[in-house]
Amino acid sequence: MTIRRTVLKVFMAGAVAATLGSGAQAQEVVKVGLILPMTGPFASTGRQIEAAVKLFLAQSGTTHGGKRLEVILKDDTGNADATRRIAQELVVNDKVAVLAGFGLTPLAMATAPIATQAKIPQIVMAAATASITEASPFIVRTSFTLPQASEPMADWAWSNGIKRVFTVVTDYGPGIDAETSFANKFKAAGGTVESVRVPLRNPDFAPFLQRVSEAKPDALFVFVPSGIGAQFMKQFVERGLDKAGVKLIGPGDVVDDDILNGMGDVAVGAITTHHYSAKHDSAANLAFVKAFEAANPGVRPNFMAVGGYDGMRLIAEALKATNGDASGEKLITAMKGASWESPRGPITIDPATRDIIQNIYVRRTEKVGSDLFNIEFATIPQVKDPVKARK
Ligand code: PHB
Repeated sequence: MTIRRTVLKVFMAGAVAATLGSGAQAQEVVKVGLILPMTGPFASTGRQIEAAVKLFLAQSGTTHGGKRLEVILKDDTGNADATRRIAQELVVNDKVAVLAGFGLTPLAMATAPIATQAKIPQIVMAAATASITEASPFIVRTSFTLPQASEPMADWAWSNGIKRVFTVVTDYGPGIDAETSFANKFKAAGGTVESVRVPLRNPDFAPFLQRVSEAKPDALFVFVPSGIGAQFMKQFVERGLDKAGVKLIGPGDVVDDDILNGMGDVAVGAITTHHYSAKHDSAANLAFVKAFEAANPGVRPNFMAVGGYDGMRLIAEALKATNGDASGEKLITAMKGASWESPRGPITIDPATRDIIQNIYVRRTEKVGSDLFNIEFATIPQVKDPVKARK
């Protein structure tokens, strides 16, 4: 595969004026290397995060702590070798103070040794395997973890009369996290679980769905990464499972807001647990969705966008807290314990783990007018990543 290494764009105009020095004090620039899958099967994640980062800077300005933030966006196509090389180039050639983005777990893991060695913050805005934050003391996460979202699903399923569950997950870090955290909790409650894993690249759900249609479990628990849900739903309908009375449950990635409307009525009634819905009922979210949709006509923000928006805010607030000192250790210290109201609800960066503490909501996919939305109907407040909380 050929890998595109081009700098796609530097976000903020005015870079030239500042570098040339517009008067007595030219403003110092702090560079953020934003590495995202902008092409390939996970491009929706890249597009969502790019749009949200831009929105944050348009709303809050680029000057924070007296420094001007400049974002350099690069496309890693979702390939970990490309991420690693791009991260290295951003550190060595561009002298970025922060690395950010990371659309998939292998891409975040490939960059961790670079962040550690360069002592610069690596802000994980998307990837969600629990162990990622343990790969470097310079990683801080603004997305979520799969155990954080999946354990509450086990509680909901058991207390709602579900006894037999089949799980299907994508066979890599976040899928394995989703499967094991759900299954352990659900079995401890008394339920039975059968599990199958499908490959990340070119997944074929058909043989597995055939087994499910024969076994008729009470529910099918699904994790597929953001952007892949539509493919899954299509095969779910083709196997007639929408008519077989098998309830669809899981973390919210399968009914991600970016593609939900394209799924049709098959998604209606799915019960998922997650940290963000575009229909989250708060003034902060209403304002966020309105501004995002105004800047990106026809695109609804999903949970990836919120991870990007909060990630950029975390960088800006940390720079403000250090009075513009962009050394990695100072920024990380400032990020620990940071807390505010996000479009998803109240969030805090856990100072002990550098992971995010946030509400997890139980949602039902419903039709609102002619559009599909995940409607939150219960809240589990301020959930920590349970894997690290147990250690
Ligand atoms: C991941 O690779 O960590 C990942 C990607 C997409 C998701 C969740 C996790 O929706």
